[in-house]
Amino acid sequence: MTTDEIDQLREDVLAAIDVAAGPDALEAVRVHALGKQGTVTALLKSLGKMTPEERQVQGPRIHGLREAVNAAIGARREKLEAAILADKLASETLDMTLPVDVPTSGTVHPVSQVMDELAEIFADLGFAVATGPEIEDDWHNFTALNIPDTHPARAMHDTFYFPPDDSGEQKMLLRTHTSPVQIRTMVDQKPPIRIIAPGRTYRSDSDATHTPMFHQVEGLVIDKGITLGHLKWTLETFLKAFFERDDIVLRLRPSYFPFTEPSAEVDVGFSIEKGKRVIGGSEGWMEVLGSGMVHPKVIEACGLDPKEWQGFAFGCGIDRLAMLKYGMDDLRAFFDGDLRWLRHYGFSALDVPTLSGGVGA
Ligand code: DAH
Repeated sequence: MTTDEIDQLREDVLAAIDVAAGPDALEAVRVHALGKQGTVTALLKSLGKMTPEERQVQGPRIHGLREAVNAAIGARREKLEAAILADKLASETLDMTLPVDVPTSGTVHPVSQVMDELAEIFADLGFAVATGPEIEDDWHNFTALNIPDTHPARAMHDTFYFPPDDSGEQKMLLRTHTSPVQIRTMVDQKPPIRIIAPGRTYRSDSDATHTPMFHQVEGLVIDKGITLGHLKWTLETFLKAFFERDDIVLRLRPSYFPFTEPSAEVDVGFSIEKGKRVIGGSEGWMEVLGSGMVHPKVIEACGLDPKEWQGFAFGCGIDRLAMLKYGMDDLRAFFDGDLRWLRHYGFSALDVPTLSGGVGA
């Protein structure tokens, strides 16, 4: 093929690429030029039959042609895809300001309701509500809580990690518990501290009793002369107010958490009424929370002197509290967004929990 013919072919192919109206047409042009039987492919094959001198002249031209065609196809494809996306976005817009034609009455989700109840109960005991980020760093979520790198608890938490940053150092993660809010509070505030920290937590776990996102509430008290007695009284007072029953019986079982020493798991007694478990009494026991005296190492990691300051902490699953109090039995339904479920189990936005009116009214 002469140089002029190659130039002509280039012009023809590039023009065809330019007018290809959609991805299918563009693919047809590509096959016609670069496919097995393609015009440009034939040229490439012809290089093999040339004398070395011819090849030296034609080689760069033909390879240049192939590259130009490839680049033009890539650019055209991007343009077409962008146009398709723009069309799709334009045709799928949803005007959120349009009136809806079904009567809607929203309800307060049981998880929000329980969080409000917790805030109300603990406010009465002098606790403030603290918050922290759901995207945490390793130090707040683990290290400062006395869970060093090699600690088995790290593996047990089924953590969702983000890819490392450019330095390859800092591992960000979705917090696996609300305990990092303890750390943030101790670092930021001067004791005495009394806070609860309700919020979302994440672990890579999913079945009838676990969802990858769930809710916890953390409690933290830091002051002078704090003992296990204060912990037990606080939990008992909280659970009586929460379940709105005076016959709540607690059982503290020795346990292990890296961030508390000693640690205790707290069971609450239940009785059987009409074949159903009801909180109160002591016919059986149900584990409801983890707790303990804040480990001196944790207090120290936050820059406080553990000889001067002591405290207790606890952590509790909010979803489970809601299930126990309001009788839902499948955790997954909490997050399905099913309006029928929400209408059945949701609460009126006007019934704000108060201690005098009954927190679960
Ligand atoms: N962070 C623990 C967990 O997610 C729960 C917990 C246990 C929190 C004991 C505490 C505590 O503050 O003292 O399993």
